Amino acid sequence: MSLAIEVKNLNFSYDSEEGVQTIKNVSFSIEKGQYVSLIGHNGSGKSTLAKLLAYLLEPASGEIYVDGIRVNEKNIREIRQTIGVVFQNPDNQFIGSTVEGDIAFGLENRAVPREKMIELVKKYSRLVGMDKFLNKSPDELSGGQKQRVAIAGILALGLKIIIFDEATSMLDPEGVEDIKKLIFEMKKEDPELTFVSITHDIEEAYLSDKVIILNSGEKYMEGVPEDVFADEDKIKSIGLDIPFVLQVKNALKKKGIETPKNIRTIEELSNYLCGK
Ligand SMILES: Nc1ncnc2c1ncn2[C@@H]1O[C@H](COP(=O)(O)OP(=O)(O)O)[C@@H](O)[C@H]1O
Ligand SMILES: [Mg+2]
Repeated sequence: MSLAIEVKNLNFSYDSEEGVQTIKNVSFSIEKGQYVSLIGHNGSGKSTLAKLLAYLLEPASGEIYVDGIRVNEKNIREIRQTIGVVFQNPDNQFIGSTVEGDIAFGLENRAVPREKMIELVKKYSRLVGMDKFLNKSPDELSGGQKQRVAIAGILALGLKIIIFDEATSMLDPEGVEDIKKLIFEMKKEDPELTFVSITHDIEEAYLSDKVIILNSGEKYMEGVPEDVFADEDKIKSIGLDIPFVLQVKNALKKKGIETPKNIRTIEELSNYLCGK
């Protein structure tokens, strides 16, 4: 299986934090087409790691490979044709003077022909529910609407690897679900599309292909969700919780009712228990 992202012994410090290492000897790999959740407390280094992957920050040491290419200052352009990050704060990302201009910005930068660009702006503004707002300026939009625009701007680029760094934090639960569905649709169309979700949503993490946990700048755990969350004590010892469905499964187990390891949702669990 070829890798979308490979990180080896990555280290990083912000200059302003003398003596403090923000990313400590972190190594992990992500296969092409995987949906990966990156979780951990605030300040654990998740956003810093996302910035390092897209070379928005320069590693102190270690290696990063994106789609097989070693990331360094010489191939930033190539890397940014492959990987894109949507960050939490949409104000720092809104570049255009209108929604339309903002979604078009990345496409213009990549010299996408005008006709194609108009088509893509239409398509992705519609998919994120912002097609009625194309001529609005950022100050006419809510935080959640700006997040939708930022998401459209990245999705329109047709990148192979997309990272959402708490990119839907200002949306209501329904909006979050809509965007998740959109990502799953895109992944269905392109099984090689790799998606990394930096999230506090443990339930989402449990549905991922892989979970990576950062703690104080170090990789704490990495693996399939069933294995990672199986070690309840290890998860709870850093103040994280285990998914609700797993809590139910564990409670059933205590009563002598075993359920299959691969059940990941309440719906699957109730179907199983009802013998469907
Ligand atoms: N621009 C910056 N300058 C200095 N320190 C920073 C900067 N950004 C983040 N940090 C520090 O780096 C650590 C990791 O932050 P961050 O990567 O934002 O974590 P997370 O995204 O997991 O909340 C924190 O201690 C934070 O205060
Ligand atoms: Mg962050």
